[in-house]
Amino acid sequence: MKVFELVETFGRAGESDHPMNAVREILESLRGRVDVDKLLSYIPGTGGNPRQVFYRSPQLTLLKVCFPVGRRTPPHTHGTWAAILQLSGEEKNTLYDCEHGRLRRTGEATLTPGTVLPLAAGAVHVVECRGDAPSLGLHVYGGDILVLPRRVWDPETLEEHPLDWTLYERFAQAASKAERAPLG
Ligand SMILES: [Fe+2]
Repeated sequence: MKVFELVETFGRAGESDHPMNAVREILESLRGRVDVDKLLSYIPGTGGNPRQVFYRSPQLTLLKVCFPVGRRTPPHTHGTWAAILQLSGEEKNTLYDCEHGRLRRTGEATLTPGTVLPLAAGAVHVVECRGDAPSLGLHVYGGDILVLPRRVWDPETLEEHPLDWTLYERFAQAASKAERAPLG
């Protein structure tokens, strides 16, 4: 498979009647069959969303995301549904919902290579790299991730903010120094 074929496959799914289900099926069919990690090795996956994206449209964004060893994100939303295929390394997702502006921890999921994690629109999560290798994943979002309004929470005070990348990075630095994800 070539990169343009991967993009076309997902691009078509994004135009279908049930894009999230279609994307999930593709991610599940890719694991073990296509070496997506190798295919996307030209993308470093760090340096923020604009440097991780390899396709974006109003329907869908495709990114390769790398969380370096020791990195933990602040709680955040994506502004739409998302689905992740873990490519290599291990990452822990702590899951939350948000009612009346208050975060509530609802569970966790550890992703190992081949795991597919769907996230409903409105889902809030914290991601952390586990182990001594970076966590790499193929992330698919149901919209244009660079323009969708998103939210982020201060990992120390749990105060909610509109997502701004300077703020996000400051919160990620604080989150990475903490013992565990908020409310854990
Ligand atoms: Fe995320």
